[in-house]
Amino acid sequence: MPRTRILKVDPEHPDSAALEQAAEYIRAGKLVAFPTETVYGLGANALDPSAVSAIFCAKGRPPTDPLIVHIADFSQLREITREVPPAAESLAHHFWPGPLTFVLFKSALIPPQVTAGSEKVAVRWPSHPVAQALIRLSGVPIAAPSANLFGHISPTTAEHVYADLHGRVHLILDGGPTFIGLESTVLDLTTAPPRLLRPGGIPLEALRPFLGDVTLGLSYQSESAVAESPGQMLRHYAPQRATLLLFEGEGAPLLLTMQKVAQEYQQQGQRVGILSVDEEQQAFSLPDAEVISLGSRHDLEAIARNLFASLRKLEEKGVEVILARTFPREHLGLAIWDRLYRAAQGRIIRV
Ligand code: TXA
Ligand code: MG
Repeated sequence: MPRTRILKVDPEHPDSAALEQAAEYIRAGKLVAFPTETVYGLGANALDPSAVSAIFCAKGRPPTDPLIVHIADFSQLREITREVPPAAESLAHHFWPGPLTFVLFKSALIPPQVTAGSEKVAVRWPSHPVAQALIRLSGVPIAAPSANLFGHISPTTAEHVYADLHGRVHLILDGGPTFIGLESTVLDLTTAPPRLLRPGGIPLEALRPFLGDVTLGLSYQSESAVAESPGQMLRHYAPQRATLLLFEGEGAPLLLTMQKVAQEYQQQGQRVGILSVDEEQQAFSLPDAEVISLGSRHDLEAIARNLFASLRKLEEKGVEVILARTFPREHLGLAIWDRLYRAAQGRIIRV
């Protein structure tokens, strides 16, 4: 087991000595966790099969769940894919670097471990200065899933990475909290029409003008279901110790129901946490509950940024049940809804 080193870096103007060290680790086939604008990634040289296998090992991730390859210029895109369709070309010029991942046909350069044997590879050019500098200095594309234990909440700080992966990763670049807080949007461009496989940092509404038609490829499979779209397991993003209950509704009826259900759990002796919003958190009169506001309910960017960190905070406080409200499935709200729904394993209480 490696000892985990942590190097602090300025997120906007990262120190080149720290990055050069991290790049050396990547070139040597080691694992480096690094910040991207979405969440922290657990990176390794995407062209080195044994380094890639080490990622799966460190996360406890099944080898059937493929990884995103991170690049830092267009020549790398051409090297790792068989062809770049016009839609990818125009979307890339508009949204890259940024939180948008394309699924394209892979070239022979990408080993099968990266794609779980598939002929398709997921690729993204992140905008975070630390991620970009690391990829450039390494001189290779970097395969990186979110830097959490498999099935757990994605990390938005270096502390989250350390909590899940210390002793399993060689180096963590600590660039502070990530900017967006939810993972990238995953878009399969090998099908006609293209399919949205995961809502994320770039809203579907922003993609539509470039795509004409696009289908929703979101599936919420139970663990026993055959993984037609890998990585779509319902249990994803779940807190490890607490049960999450999702409430859909509005106004006083919603808040009263949440209050009543919380009281029932407390009466059974359970520790309760509530994920609320600025406008509603005062409505709960539950002396012993942990109530956290994600931000104003109208500020979806703040809610996205705070969601994973707040779930981890409640987990650390030892709550056994978490009650959360849903958000409209528009713009960033679709990705927020998706993560909450998965964390709740599909348990929705409609008020
Ligand atoms: O924002 C992000 O995307 C972060 C940062 C680190 O870049 N990465 C991330 O990776 O969230 P991960 O491994 O946690 O999620 C990648 C998603 C999974 O749902 C996976 O199944 C899907 O992308 N994916 C990867 N390769 C694929 C492929 N060849 N075909 C279909 N889906 C693929
Ligand atoms: Mg993940």
